[in-house]
Amino acid sequence: MTDLFSPLSLRGSITAKNRIWLAPLTNMQSHEDGSCSEAEARFLRMRAEGGFGLITTCATFVAQDGKAWPGELGAHSDAMIPGLKNLATQIREAGSIGSVQLFHGGLRADAQVSGIQPWSASDYTENETLVAREGSLADIDQAIIDFAQAAARCAHAGFEAIELHGAHGYLLSQFLSQTYNRREGAWGGALAHRARLIREVTRAVRKSAPNLALIVRLSPEDFGQAKGIDLDETAQVAKWLVEDGVDVIHLSLWRAAHNTTKYPDVHPTAFFRKHLGDTTKIVVAGAIWTREEAEAQLALGADAVALGRSAIGNHDWPKRVAGNEPIARAPFTSEHLEGEGLTKGFVGYLGKWKGFVA
Ligand SMILES: Cc1cc2nc3c(=O)[nH]c(=O)nc-3n(C[C@H](O)[C@H](O)[C@H](O)COP(=O)(O)O)c2cc1C
Repeated sequence: MTDLFSPLSLRGSITAKNRIWLAPLTNMQSHEDGSCSEAEARFLRMRAEGGFGLITTCATFVAQDGKAWPGELGAHSDAMIPGLKNLATQIREAGSIGSVQLFHGGLRADAQVSGIQPWSASDYTENETLVAREGSLADIDQAIIDFAQAAARCAHAGFEAIELHGAHGYLLSQFLSQTYNRREGAWGGALAHRARLIREVTRAVRKSAPNLALIVRLSPEDFGQAKGIDLDETAQVAKWLVEDGVDVIHLSLWRAAHNTTKYPDVHPTAFFRKHLGDTTKIVVAGAIWTREEAEAQLALGADAVALGRSAIGNHDWPKRVAGNEPIARAPFTSEHLEGEGLTKGFVGYLGKWKGFVA
C-alpha cells in the first residue's frame, strides 16, 4: 500500500513531501480589505512546520461580489500580492507546498460584508438577508476573468498550487446544481451546460497559471449547502475537468468512512478511482483523525488525505503520527486552540462547529 509519508508528484517538478494536506479552513483572520494578516500566516506556517506536505489556504475571494465572510483572505486585487507573497514564502521555507483555494460565494456571498447584492445561476431567496439575483452574461464572463486573474496573482506571489472551490454550494457548485441552477440556454439545463462555468474557469486558470498544480474541490453528492449534486454527474464533471487541465480532484466527503448515498455499497474514493483511472490524483477529506483512517483512504485509491478539524487541534499531526505520539481529540479548550496558533476570533468562529470547542 502507498506510504502516507512517501512523496507525491503533483505536476512537473512540484512534489509534496508526503500525502498529508491541510484542508482549506475559513478562519476569518485576514485584514478587513482581504490582505493576509500575520496571524493567518502564523496559523498556516505552524502547520507547514508541523509536517503537512501541502497547505491549503482558506476559501479566498476572487472578486468583491464573491466575498462571504469578514476577515476572509482575498486574491481579488494586486494590492493583495505583498501579503500573499509573505504567506507563500513562509509556507515554502517551512518545506511545504502552498495552495490557495480560489472562491466565489455566489448566492452565499454576504452583502453585508461585500456591500454588493449577491448573484448566482438563478435568483434565490433564503430569508430577508439572503436574496440573490440571477447573474447576467456579463457577471459570468467577469467571474471567469476574476478567477484567472486571481490565479495569476497567486502564481506571481510564489504559490505552487491553486485549488478551485467547486464544492459546498458556492458559485461553481451552484452552477453545477440541478437545484440552484434553473437557467435555460448555454449555462443551465443539461449537465454539459451546468458544468460550463467550472470548465471555463478551469481552462482560464490553466492558461493564466500554466505551471501551477491545479486542484479542483468537488462535493460528490448532496451534503449541507451542496444541493442538487448527483454522484454520477460529479464523476463526469471530474473527467471533463481532467481533460481541461486539472491535476488533482479533491473530494470533500465530510465523513470519509461512509459509503455513497446513491450506491450504499460503494465507497466514494473507490468510485472516483474507478471512473478517473490510475493517472489522475485524488485527495479526500472528511473526519480523518487517525493514521488508520488516513491509510484506509489510501487503500481505497486516494493519493492523499486532507485534514481539517484534526489539524486545527494538532498543528503537527504528521510529526505526531510519524513519531507514534498521541493525537489530541475534540472538544478542545480555548487555551489548547490558542496554543495551536488560533486567534480568539477564530476560536469564536469554531463555536458554530458542534462539539469542537469545549
Ligand atoms: C472551521 C472550518 C472552516 C472550513 N472552511 C472551509 C473552506 O474555506 N473551504 C472549504 O472547501 N472547506 C472548508 N471547510 C471544510 C473542511 O475543509 C473539511 O472538508 C471538513 O471540515 C471535513 O474535514 P474534517 O472532518 O477533517 O474537518 C471548513 C471546515 C471547518 C471545520
